[in-house]
Amino acid sequence: MMNITEFKNRRDNLLKKMDDNSIAIIPAGVELTRSRDTEFPFRQDSDFLYLTGFLEPEAVLVLSPSAQNQSTLFCRNKDKIAEIWCGRRIGPQRAQSEFLFDQTFALSDLKDNLLTLVSGHATLYYGQGTYAEFDEKIWQLLNTLRGGPKKGYKAPTVIKDVRNLVHEMRLFKSQNEVELMRKAAVISTQAHIRAMKYSKAGAFEFQLEAELHHHYAMSGARYPAYGTIVGSGDNANILHYTENSDILADGDLVLIDSGCELEGYAADITRTFPVNGKFTTPQKQLYQLVLDAQIAAMSFYKPGSTLKQASVAATKVLTQGMIDLGLLEGDLNELISNEAYKAFYMHGLGHWLGLDVHDVGEYKQDEKERVFEPDMVLTVEPGIYVAADSKAPEQFKGIGIRIEDNILITADGHENLTQSLPKTIDEIEGLMA
Ligand code: GLY
Ligand code: MN
Ligand code: MN
Repeated sequence: MMNITEFKNRRDNLLKKMDDNSIAIIPAGVELTRSRDTEFPFRQDSDFLYLTGFLEPEAVLVLSPSAQNQSTLFCRNKDKIAEIWCGRRIGPQRAQSEFLFDQTFALSDLKDNLLTLVSGHATLYYGQGTYAEFDEKIWQLLNTLRGGPKKGYKAPTVIKDVRNLVHEMRLFKSQNEVELMRKAAVISTQAHIRAMKYSKAGAFEFQLEAELHHHYAMSGARYPAYGTIVGSGDNANILHYTENSDILADGDLVLIDSGCELEGYAADITRTFPVNGKFTTPQKQLYQLVLDAQIAAMSFYKPGSTLKQASVAATKVLTQGMIDLGLLEGDLNELISNEAYKAFYMHGLGHWLGLDVHDVGEYKQDEKERVFEPDMVLTVEPGIYVAADSKAPEQFKGIGIRIEDNILITADGHENLTQSLPKTIDEIEGLMA
């Protein structure tokens, strides 16, 4: 478990970054209906989770560097009947002592108390556009404050996006966050190995998914971090294929893109392997090409390099390979500059990873490509996708391959968090034999 003081330290860091005489309002996530009287499993809003560790819906965090009580939490009140039906609530009293807030209030006091808390501050930090219902509350609050000088209210005149500050903080992982991400990565690699070992012609794609999810839960990570992709044969060419409903066929490859979520932190791993444990020659040719591209890209995963540099390196290897294997015809530089390679490689090389699988953080700074720094975590995931109906040599049609690892940038290079998962052709065939 993340130590509760780390959440308080994050709030204190955010308070230091805020303008003088300002106030931030950050709501928790909302419950979503799945079907009549049932909800999707609740997942806390990542920014709120990052700053509080508090897991209930409907809560609201308020921070103000200029106030006597700098941190305030509103949360569901204790309610005997509601708790019998829907589950325990921490309640404001315990929330204050256990989560280290300066003060806490019941959610029922939100409207009145927010007016008093916000009034008089020059700047309001708020992230609009995520929760429509809460946006409406904020606009009503501002209107009341603006209309109320006779009541002594004073509305903020500047509204800033609190996410700019929080997301920059989230981009750099602490020691404790890295430790959790290492664990999430190891659980996920073990789950991939379990699925590889289970793989056989005649199994359903969703049965490989079940192997993964079983291992996540049995390892203490109840949920996957995103919808698991198990695409066999031509299904691997659908980038976000999640039907997972086909039957694995002998001679096909299967692409699994899956990672668990541990205390909110995601792993995001892809491996592609033969259903029957043996690559065919055309499968080997394309697989080795993607692996070479990944290795070329990873040499730029170090402080001072950029994702763009890594991406250019991967694209160059992939495009040359496409020429060599007869997927593309023409001059290497031209095929890169006119993006002809996108016929078979149409997504980016990687993305930040953390509390969100596509994690927050700017990819550019002052209009320039952002330089890698220690404590950033991101994926490296080149691929090649030759759909059955594409224009390509017959032997490659219906083959889709992606190889994805999770990389921590360190002072002297990087640490591959998902290193322990077999990746070379020999390693995969060896494991499955
Ligand atoms: N699993 C989504 C991705 O690889 O970005
Ligand atoms: Mn992925
Ligand atoms: Mn990814």
